[in-house]
Amino acid sequence: MQILTFKTTEEIGAAAGKLFVETVQNNPKAVLGLATGATPVPTYEYMAKEYENGNVSFKDVTTFNLDEYCDLPKEHKNSFYSFMVDNLFSKIDVKDENINFLDGNVEDPDAESKRYADAIINAGGIDIQFLGVGRNGHIAFNEPADEFTDEAFKVKLTDSTIEANSIYFDDIPMPRYAMTMGIGSIMRAKKIVFVATGSSKAEAVRAMVKGEVTPSCPASILQNHPDCYVLLDEAAAALL
Ligand code: F6R
Repeated sequence: MQILTFKTTEEIGAAAGKLFVETVQNNPKAVLGLATGATPVPTYEYMAKEYENGNVSFKDVTTFNLDEYCDLPKEHKNSFYSFMVDNLFSKIDVKDENINFLDGNVEDPDAESKRYADAIINAGGIDIQFLGVGRNGHIAFNEPADEFTDEAFKVKLTDSTIEANSIYFDDIPMPRYAMTMGIGSIMRAKKIVFVATGSSKAEAVRAMVKGEVTPSCPASILQNHPDCYVLLDEAAAALL
């Protein structure tokens, strides 16, 4: 892991965004793994600005998002799909048909997992994957568990995750389940850009970097990834 510490979230957004933009400049058909939540917003702002300034085009990239809520229509304002449209896709020239999401409303999660795994393989694998982290050490929605997962699966969200994300749901209760990429799918990405900001992430970052590799802190598996950037602000790095 290459650990870098920054003063502001804007600086982190520029550093993470630059890694994505450079990947696309070097390979216009790059496959991007994307995340939702507060953490990637400055990164997506940087990417949109670079597109606006004519420095990069996303017209031939393919994207795969990490996760999506179950039992929530795709077009609902709180779906991760809507989040991505609002924060990135509507601001760049990515093609609709190149945007991939897990479907949280399927009858058969195992078939959906297989569909997503096949789509990732057919696209040539993920070249660069953005990751945030939960306060409990989750990556995507791989919550602390007894073993590491592999491909995508349906997960029951933990109380910690529900508490953290409920703030976004003002009209309906937050979904209790999600479809998420598994740890294996994440670890197969060629490059990982992990970002954590704020003191609420400091303990998870400590366990991830300094603790043993264990599924009780899913992010700790990143110690085994050959090309993983860890971008932190001072608050998130405080316990290192
Ligand atoms: C989102 C995701 C989650 C978030 C994590 C941190 O697609 O996979 O693992 O990265 O919950 O969320 P924020 O950035 O809102 O603190």
